[in-house]
Amino acid sequence: LGRPTRFEHGAIRFEVRAADRGCSARVGRLTTPHGVVETPAFMPVGTQATVKGLMPDQLRSVGSTMLLANTYHLALRPGEAIIEELGGLHRFMAWDRPILTDSGGFQVFSLAEKAKLSESGVVFRSHLDGRRLELTPESAVRIQERLGADVAMCLDHCPALPASKETIAEATARTIRWARRCREAHTRSDQALFGITQGGPHADLRAECAQALVEIGFPGYAVGGVSVGEGPEEIRRALEGAVHPLPWNQPRYLMGVGRPEDLLDAVAAGIDLFDCVWPTRNGRNATCMTARGQVRLRNARHARDPRPIEEGCDCPACRAFSRAYLRHLFIAGEMLGPILASLHNLAFLHRLTRDMRRAISEGRYVQFQRDRLAALGSES
Ligand code: GUN
Ligand code: ZN
Repeated sequence: LGRPTRFEHGAIRFEVRAADRGCSARVGRLTTPHGVVETPAFMPVGTQATVKGLMPDQLRSVGSTMLLANTYHLALRPGEAIIEELGGLHRFMAWDRPILTDSGGFQVFSLAEKAKLSESGVVFRSHLDGRRLELTPESAVRIQERLGADVAMCLDHCPALPASKETIAEATARTIRWARRCREAHTRSDQALFGITQGGPHADLRAECAQALVEIGFPGYAVGGVSVGEGPEEIRRALEGAVHPLPWNQPRYLMGVGRPEDLLDAVAAGIDLFDCVWPTRNGRNATCMTARGQVRLRNARHARDPRPIEEGCDCPACRAFSRAYLRHLFIAGEMLGPILASLHNLAFLHRLTRDMRRAISEGRYVQFQRDRLAALGSES
């Protein structure tokens, strides 16, 4: 294709192994100090150094290769000093495969009380005990170095939407200035630091932000500020602007997106990595995803339903249990219900990304996307 397909930068390697001719989808392989991730890949969210209710072995068994954890939560509790003392995040949570930590830039604005923004950083009160704390580009990087994930993220400013273009432009400019400070503060050679693009739904701001980050130079790039309630058309526009300026041979990560239809679109736009609480949060709520749309396990129509959540699924829930049994667990408030539903939803998303990789490798992603989108609307 005449383009470089490999990228290497200290801690990580990335290789584009196949690209679809009909769209920007690609199959890649991300190599980190803790192992390999075949992309497109979905990262389950382990906010507090645990994917709620699930053991590392169970995550592995449904196909998880890389997890996300949150700097904001872990810095507040138990604190990065304790995690570092106990051997780092991998040892602490007994997950020996790749981990990415988010910077706290997003959580501090959505969870903390009285977040006060300045050029130096964000001063806020902990949502746990009201303690006054400050997160700066330098401290976000330092905390993430002590947590020791394979991939760390820059501190960014994701403005609340709806916001004027002027407000979004200011947040984007600040995100770029902070990214430069993060890069300068980052010292760990066995950890990759990714930049984050902001810019809301404005393709021009997105493109400017991506170009500026590429000039600073990061081993990988994320698209942030996208999971904030906008429609698929706005997501598409944001991705169009943000992805185009990014080097083709480096990994691209869309933050906080995990609905199957959004994944299908974003992969077509050239995204490699995703994370989202959607599968686990919905699983705990008795909502399961299937290739033919959602199944709500609490629904009375499943009271005598002998079928598994999804025919042909080899997850621990579908291998052994009926919808009737799972419904019973949820109605009775048994903890096995949320565990099994979470496992199914993760198995479903990992299977979807595996099927995407195959479709891209075989050069039929556009048709695959069309078929999957049509099936998702067909209700099971
Ligand atoms: N997670 C979802 N969206 C975002 C974002 O815009 N920034 C960060 N840091 N994390 C996110
Ligand atoms: Zn299943």
